[in-house]
Amino acid sequence: MTAIDLDGAVAVVTGGAGGIGEQLAARLGGEGARVAVVDLHEGPAQQVASRIPGAIGLACDVGDASSVASMVASVEAQLGPIDVYCSNAGVATGPGLGDDASWEAAWRVHAMAHVYAARAVLPGMAERGRGAMVVTASAAGLLMMMQSAPYTVTKHASVAIAEWLAVNYGDSGISLHCLCPQGVRTPMVTGGDGASQAELNASGQIIEPSVVADEVLAALRDGRFLVLPHPQVHDYEQAKVADRDRWLAGMRRLLSRVGGSRGSGT
Ligand SMILES: NC(=O)c1ccc[n+]([C@@H]2O[C@H](COP(=O)([O-])OP(=O)(O)OC[C@H]3O[C@@H](n4cnc5c(N)ncnc54)[C@H](O)[C@@H]3O)[C@@H](O)[C@H]2O)c1
Repeated sequence: MTAIDLDGAVAVVTGGAGGIGEQLAARLGGEGARVAVVDLHEGPAQQVASRIPGAIGLACDVGDASSVASMVASVEAQLGPIDVYCSNAGVATGPGLGDDASWEAAWRVHAMAHVYAARAVLPGMAERGRGAMVVTASAAGLLMMMQSAPYTVTKHASVAIAEWLAVNYGDSGISLHCLCPQGVRTPMVTGGDGASQAELNASGQIIEPSVVADEVLAALRDGRFLVLPHPQVHDYEQAKVADRDRWLAGMRRLLSRVGGSRGSGT
């Protein structure tokens, strides 16, 4: 995998109207990229874009294949072929085992959105022999978000898709990156319920989205797949694969400390 030159590159950031996406868009713009800020609604996307020189703001539902295809066509018509695609939009789901609507929303945005994006942009990148795709998963995709089964399972799907793409496209001049943070101070976390906040507080430090964006930019420069803004996630994952029964017992102890979620499922 080769590092991509961001100066003059065309970059898309989904979920760009706030939180991690907004910071990613700003950092990419700061490196000289021409950025398309994409979110569910045009107004907030355009507001963020208006603060980044040369950026545009577009509406798109990333969980809908035709919406992604027409957004990509519109970006390419306005800015040119896409070099960097940050598939970053996400939804807070839960609680507990989750109802069907939570599973449906989480599956569309945390799994299919990455597939629709890959279909729309990776063949062109492969043809040009140049490109990068960042999949925002979560530490929950390597470990667990105890308060939400739909979030945990669909973020595991995000990691698996990113790995699959890295194997299938990594020799075509495209670098694949998978972002797996724990708590980040964004509307998703500050607007969450008390139990989710207690879990995040217990698992580690809640960091600023600008720090996460810096880590993504460093990984783009290095051509590094896994982006862990909380370095301890590496150790937690090692402990999980080394002894799953021990890890599960530890997670049960943590769950009882922060307040159980099982009863809140449907
Ligand atoms: N904040 C955290 O602690 C944390 C931790 C790990 C992973 N993440 C992941 O980081 C990513 C960014 O989240 P954030 O924390 O910045 O939260 P956020 O709520 O600030 O941003 C998420 C953005 O995604 C957009 N979005 C949701 N569904 C969409 C759809 N169908 N189409 C287009 N846009 C859509 C929202 O409008 C919002 O602007 C998400 O994938 C999230 O799961 C966040």
